[in-house]
Amino acid sequence: MSVTEPCRKCADPIVLLSVTSHGDKLGFLAQMKVGVVKEIKADEYRVALTPAGARELVQRGHDVLVEHEAGNGSSFTDDQYEAVGAAIASTEDVWGDAELLLKVKEPLPAEYQLLREGLVLFTYLHLAASEELTRALAESGAACVAYETVESDNHALPLLAPMSEIAGRLAAQAGAYFLEKPLGGRGLLLGGVPGVAPGRVLVIGGGIVGYNAAVIALGLGANVTILERSIDRMRYLDEILSGRVSLVMSSTLQIEESIVEADVVIGAVLIPGAIAPKLITREMVSAMKDGAVLCDVAIDQGGCAETSHATTHSDPVYVVDGVTHYCVANMPGAVPVTSTKALTNATLPFAQEVADFGLPQAVARDPALARGVNVLDGKITYEAVAEAHNLDFHPLEELLPLSPV
Ligand SMILES: NC(=O)c1ccc[n+]([C@@H]2O[C@H](COP(=O)([O-])OP(=O)(O)OC[C@H]3O[C@@H](n4cnc5c(N)ncnc54)[C@H](O)[C@@H]3O)[C@@H](O)[C@H]2O)c1
Repeated sequence: MSVTEPCRKCADPIVLLSVTSHGDKLGFLAQMKVGVVKEIKADEYRVALTPAGARELVQRGHDVLVEHEAGNGSSFTDDQYEAVGAAIASTEDVWGDAELLLKVKEPLPAEYQLLREGLVLFTYLHLAASEELTRALAESGAACVAYETVESDNHALPLLAPMSEIAGRLAAQAGAYFLEKPLGGRGLLLGGVPGVAPGRVLVIGGGIVGYNAAVIALGLGANVTILERSIDRMRYLDEILSGRVSLVMSSTLQIEESIVEADVVIGAVLIPGAIAPKLITREMVSAMKDGAVLCDVAIDQGGCAETSHATTHSDPVYVVDGVTHYCVANMPGAVPVTSTKALTNATLPFAQEVADFGLPQAVARDPALARGVNVLDGKITYEAVAEAHNLDFHPLEELLPLSPV
């Protein structure tokens, strides 16, 4: 006997469970080996699955393989994973045995050779920012699903959102911190004190990063301006921030005028899947106050300032024309206990879909997940990534039937 549920798109029945004549469940038709590896990127302490998430997958009949000590940086021990039914394995075994591999950051060159046909890689990829990685993934034959381009019908980015919330909040903290004189800053207390004006924070892009940066900057007592290009978004921000920030239409002229007044600039723009627009030119940076701080959070998409290049938590800042640049590409990695839980809360339902149904059926069932597929069968299936590197674009529906099988 089979247990079915109607497809969300066409209402055709989809088989979920097979049940024997004795009533024993055989489990979901796709039973998968789900691997979780330890991140090797500098200062990255997050892990792609918590023990609670591992338990959910195990309960659905999947095998979960976790690399030895993968959770240590987020304060999860091997024992905690084993206690919920996951197996602890070596790096080679997890990469070699997994059918679905959950990661946090993109594979680094040392990991390229471990990618292979038949593997579904589910992680942050930010491919528009790296042609080398895009080509390596395509050559590997692996199916690569990017957290950051999973996109719901209302254009929300559910797997970027939790990390954006964290990065936005950290950006305001970093801005305040690097304004301190001994750290090379202007020597200004962002919130001021009674009788002394607070510092000015300019947030460019009022999405999730921008909103969260603004909330923390406001909490510190700063004077905050957000430049946005969506009027609807500005109306929403006006409503929820109750007029406590200045909301101004973004334009080159406006950025030029506002940036010279700012003590902290937070770059928080996004064009989904595409390389970040260079809204802050070298000339604008030169015109900024000496000792001001530029936090380019959009650095994971290439950065929105011409002077930005990616930095790490161990060496987070550098100075150009007297302006401290903070351009850490994996900001949430600094607070792994918070980030790992926030990430797993968001990714687990999608990981479960892939594990339960296999990638082809999972993307047919869920258009949001389908938008996450960036590379399949050696082809680039995300238009903005193909465009960024002048590679051929193959719509996903050319390669997979996007209706339930
Ligand atoms: N460095 C990190 O660790 C880290 C972590 C999380 C997110 N990010 C990055 O932060 C950036 C923002 O992410 P998000 O989740 O807030 O995206 P989002 O889509 O929620 O917000 C982006 C906002 O930018 C606005 N925008 C686009 N072009 C603009 C322009 N020319 N001027 C002003 N506003 C403009 C959009 O209207 C939107 O409101 C992304 O590049 C994301 O990848 C980085």
